[in-house]
Amino acid sequence: MPHSLTQAQSRDLLALAARVAREAGELLMNRPVTFDISAKTSALDFATQMDNASEKLIVDALLKVRPQDGIVGEEGASRPSTSGITWVIDPIDGTVNYLYALPGWNISIGARDEVGPLVGVVHAPTVNSTWTAIRGEGAFFNGVPIYCNDPITLDRALIGTGFEYDVAKRVEQGRVVANLLPLIRDLRRMGSAAVDLCYVAMGAFDGFYESGLKEWDSAAGGLIATEAGAIVTTNEAGITVCAGPALHPALARAIEG
Ligand code: IPD
Ligand code: CA
Repeated sequence: MPHSLTQAQSRDLLALAARVAREAGELLMNRPVTFDISAKTSALDFATQMDNASEKLIVDALLKVRPQDGIVGEEGASRPSTSGITWVIDPIDGTVNYLYALPGWNISIGARDEVGPLVGVVHAPTVNSTWTAIRGEGAFFNGVPIYCNDPITLDRALIGTGFEYDVAKRVEQGRVVANLLPLIRDLRRMGSAAVDLCYVAMGAFDGFYESGLKEWDSAAGGLIATEAGAIVTTNEAGITVCAGPALHPALARAIEG
């Protein structure tokens, strides 16, 4: 029968997620000589053998300790929960960065219960960065508490974003960028939604928006940003907006035209 976890149990979940993310990070830092690329929803949306290997390592390690938990993984891992806890996993967030050996790709592991997101870890070994959060206990960067920037006005805001793999949707996303750019300080496209959310959490970005994010993109980073004081919303059109309380409404209005 599912029941709420104690604070100590939540901390155990986070410690497990952080350990497993580090192990996946070690696997991924050992880059293969050649990549096997398999297309997913389109030719631009692909997985490599390393996405699959990382997901397998993470799922096996989590279930070894917590065999009753549910799993949702980007590369297809899926299993119902009988414990009340479900892990939401992106085994490489930023696969394009990973393929091109650009920094910032990461392993994103979140766990949710019947209330919502409970713990989150985003681990980016190329930039020696690990962000963590437990619901109600704040957010941390490499163990140090972090807070989003607030108050920030739109005309002084550094905003992160990303683009979907669907080319037709990119046309609309280009229009949104064209409208937004004259209104803000500047725009960044780093290549990983999970790190983008963590950048808002630690004040490296003032805000972030992206349409069409999947649960595994934001499961951990969304909790980390919320725990750092940011507002994270997804509207009916599927546009996620993350920013401090003062900036959030202005950014949401600006991208909705
Ligand atoms: C992608 C990255 C990217 C974002 C895409 C995501 P993936 O995740 O987070 O920054 O713009 O929407 O799908 O495919 O590398 O796991
Ligand atoms: Ca991924």
